[in-house]
Amino acid sequence: GITRYYKFNVQLHNVTRLCKTKSIFTVNGKFPGPRIVAREGDRVVVKVVNNVPNNVSIHWHGIRQLQSGWYDGPAYVTQCPIQTGQSYVYNFTIVGQRGTLLWHAHVSWLRATLYGPIIILPRKNTSYPFPKPHKEVPMIFGEWWNADTEAVINQSLQTGAGPNVSDAYTINGLPGPLYNCSANETFKLKVKPGKTYLLRIINAALNDELFFRISNHTFTVVEADAVYVKPFETDILLIAPGQTTNVLLKTKSNPTTTTFFMAARPYFTGQGTFDNTTVAGILEYKLPFRKSLNTSINGLQIPTLPPINGTSVAANFSNRFRSLANAQFPANVPQTVDKKFFFTIGLGSHPCPKNQTCQGPNGTKFAASMNNISFVNPTTAMLQSYFFSKSNGIYTTDFPTFPSMPFNYTGTPPNNTHVSNGTKAVVIPFNTTVEVVLQDTSILGFESHPVHLHGYNFFVVGQGFGNFDPKRDPLNFNLVDPVERNSIGVPSGGWAAIRFRADNPGVWFLHCHFEVHLSWGLKMAWIVLDGDLPNQKLPPPPSDLPKC
Ligand code: C2O
Repeated sequence: GITRYYKFNVQLHNVTRLCKTKSIFTVNGKFPGPRIVAREGDRVVVKVVNNVPNNVSIHWHGIRQLQSGWYDGPAYVTQCPIQTGQSYVYNFTIVGQRGTLLWHAHVSWLRATLYGPIIILPRKNTSYPFPKPHKEVPMIFGEWWNADTEAVINQSLQTGAGPNVSDAYTINGLPGPLYNCSANETFKLKVKPGKTYLLRIINAALNDELFFRISNHTFTVVEADAVYVKPFETDILLIAPGQTTNVLLKTKSNPTTTTFFMAARPYFTGQGTFDNTTVAGILEYKLPFRKSLNTSINGLQIPTLPPINGTSVAANFSNRFRSLANAQFPANVPQTVDKKFFFTIGLGSHPCPKNQTCQGPNGTKFAASMNNISFVNPTTAMLQSYFFSKSNGIYTTDFPTFPSMPFNYTGTPPNNTHVSNGTKAVVIPFNTTVEVVLQDTSILGFESHPVHLHGYNFFVVGQGFGNFDPKRDPLNFNLVDPVERNSIGVPSGGWAAIRFRADNPGVWFLHCHFEVHLSWGLKMAWIVLDGDLPNQKLPPPPSDLPKC
């Protein structure tokens, strides 16, 4: 492979959406941010310079970061954030991955506007395991706030209330014609008849899973989270924050109109408020000379999307993903497990501090937790503390393997919804095969949580509704061709079982990719120890690693 150099100048930039101009965080003044394009096997070097008043760090979401954990990016986990006027050079090699991923800021809510695609092409002279597309188009979903998103989350943390919701969803930064004062900011996909397009679809929204559809067209799903999958046809996609999906779109050879609507809107089963609006874009055919058809978008049909709480559509869709699992792209699913974990995931609350009024559930403050522990960011980066054996006062290694007080997770919720605080990690030896059952809970309502693991892909060996049954459910695990990915929407009121081999030393975050749940503590960290061989050890940190 070759080395690809990028410079990311994090700077404020004025952007107008929904008729309001606002100064936002950008990379190089671009919104959405620039694309990283590389081939499998290439090295990517990105110099990130912080020219904004806030602390910044960038995460290369889904990049395995084999032995390069110093460059993973989550603030206070693998690095201290980059301070104003400082810079940090991220440097990693892309190993065994091809497809689409994303990069985004990983501190507070800065990823609201700091995000962009990572496009990983196959090695030179290697082709896709599907027909070569005529063209490739990245499509990145996001959320737009008229308000300052840092103020939105800070207010939520102070008052304990749920945060205000966004004002629009966007495709490639554009809200589209269904919002007031937004018709000129509409994403247009221009296509020719009878061709195949590869759409690289990314969900960079802060807090919403999205259904997506293009009127009168279907997709062939070919890849998820930079891993090829067994192709399947669908007319509706569901994509959770942090997930990426490559699909083939075959255009009509003889369209009867030149223009079709595409639309995305949320899948949501939680209790709180959310932004129940629709982003629309346009699929526009470029027809040969002299053949002109109606191009007006007036009277076009918005595609029908599943109901907001369409959990059965969601489950049917996510159950269709399978690894290729062939000789060229084997699925190395751990067949045996060294260590089993069971993590409850869900909301909860903190008692209201004295002399304060709180606007969360029953006068408390909203919180979120795994195994009832709400993760508190440490004051310095965990990876640094771990590497230099200075974890005292930074984190503890007693994150529970199982919930300390089991209950009927999907039954009547317990009266006490309080969670405890901690900065807790699980320590596992190099090469441990791990199984984690992620169990949604009814505490303050079911919700589909998109759980993301840093530094690894995992295999989704099973999922279902209700309480996970440790006797019966494992009998139905798929250990042959389960999908391999880095983010999974754990079914609302259900569970998902994932497996991975801990072959990457370092400190790795596991968290809900709804930014609000991340802020409320739905996260934990794995510490994967070095192996014995030289190529199984985490190298020392680079000299420009930011300090806290
Ligand atoms: Cu894309 Cu820790 O996140």
